[in-house]
Amino acid sequence: MRGVLLAGGTGSRLRRLTKITNKHLLPIYDRSMVEWAVEALVTAGVTDLLLVTGGSRIGDFMQLLGDGHELGLHTLNYAVQEQAGGIAEALGLAESFAEGEPIVVMLADNVFEWSFAPTIAAFKADPTGCRLVLSASDDQDHLRHLGVPEIDDAGAIRSIVEKPQDPPSNFAVTGVYCYEPSVFDIIKTLVPSGRGELEITDVNNHYVDAGRARYDVQPGFWGDAGESIAAYQSVGEFVSRNGANKTR
Ligand code: G1P
Repeated sequence: MRGVLLAGGTGSRLRRLTKITNKHLLPIYDRSMVEWAVEALVTAGVTDLLLVTGGSRIGDFMQLLGDGHELGLHTLNYAVQEQAGGIAEALGLAESFAEGEPIVVMLADNVFEWSFAPTIAAFKADPTGCRLVLSASDDQDHLRHLGVPEIDDAGAIRSIVEKPQDPPSNFAVTGVYCYEPSVFDIIKTLVPSGRGELEITDVNNHYVDAGRARYDVQPGFWGDAGESIAAYQSVGEFVSRNGANKTR
């Protein structure tokens, strides 16, 4: 399975720590944040990976990850996102890499206690539409900083609201997304959001509206280490005590 790892952005929410580096190169316990993400994808069965990042730090990523062999990849490719135009814009750079095949996309600041391999296996078995990974949370304030699905009585997602004032459920949409190849056509139709970015939530809502979005609820801990200094710290503390990307 081909994977796309998104490691761009300005890291503004971790300002001071990111003045001289990319946030995904910051340490989480005993290694860089991006290495946990690569491990997550390799554990889930990704063999060929494209890492997308801003141009200024790409040399640091290459020095750290090399050709990916030591981390268990067959191939590791790199692409440069010229400006911070959003997650969906960064994903659009992967079109030629995908070569018309289904892909799994991951935001490199997401850390999972348990491997999301079951989601990838389910998508491999039926690689149509999109498949999302949700994480349960009772923390309304946290949910206001994330994408949150509205789920109907039959268990189907009705819509996803980005950064909702009033979260429509107690689930967060995490930064792992499986897509059929049509995702690249959808990205070309997007317009920038209020924050001036092409939003991955708009991509996902295309599949939701077409009744072609499925999901799994991820067990255990999930964190977005790039969300705030507090989140970065709590993810680091969790991982140092419990590890990450565990398989049963
Ligand atoms: C992005 C997505 C959001 C998702 C989050 C997960 O938010 O837009 O839907 O819940 O990643 O990490 P951002 O980090 O761009 O604020």
